[in-house]
Amino acid sequence: MNLLFELILGFWVIIPAYAANGFAPLARGKRRIDFGKKFFDGRDILGAGKTWEGLALALFAGTLFGMLEVYLYPTLNPIALEAGFSLHKLSPVSVFFVALGAMVGDMIGSFIKRRLGLERGAPAPLLDQLDFVFGAFLFASFFLPLTPLSVILFLIITPFVHYLASYIGHKLGVKKVPW
Ligand code: CTP
Ligand code: MG
Repeated sequence: MNLLFELILGFWVIIPAYAANGFAPLARGKRRIDFGKKFFDGRDILGAGKTWEGLALALFAGTLFGMLEVYLYPTLNPIALEAGFSLHKLSPVSVFFVALGAMVGDMIGSFIKRRLGLERGAPAPLLDQLDFVFGAFLFASFFLPLTPLSVILFLIITPFVHYLASYIGHKLGVKKVPW
């Protein structure tokens, strides 16, 4: 299939995850998901960067953007069909799970960073940018017939998008560090 179609299909699926990941810092959350507890290695389980408020806002924003896609599907899919491909038919449940997958992936990313001895906010190239994408596509694959290429394209593109977005978030003061 056409590379552009694959790109659009990947984007169609990942939008709720991008929204979830992008909105989490805006909650300025304080209540830690790990309740401040330590793991067996004496380090934080997840750290102060994973909060209930961030998780809640992420799921809300991700689902909201996904609902917008559900709403736009009847308008957009005929255009896609005209071009020669078909958009995934999303539902409120599937987009919620894509957002949830993103946040689970993000938490697993933080868990791994803490086990590696990296402090909250310390850079972990690729892991920082891709943890949520992995989680989102994994959860999406339970609902939608994803093509490997559309997933691979987003694994390649996301670090660039993420870097740009984080830089902007840092400048706006919602993100402590520019990554
Ligand atoms: N955030 C949150 N709750 C979540 C996820 C994210 O409150 N469940 C907020 C935190 O303010 C966090 C910011 O979003 O600092 C950006 O997330 P991320 O870059 O993943 O966190 P880091 O601070 O870099 O922490 P880590 O080292 O654990 O990745
Ligand atoms: Mg992270």
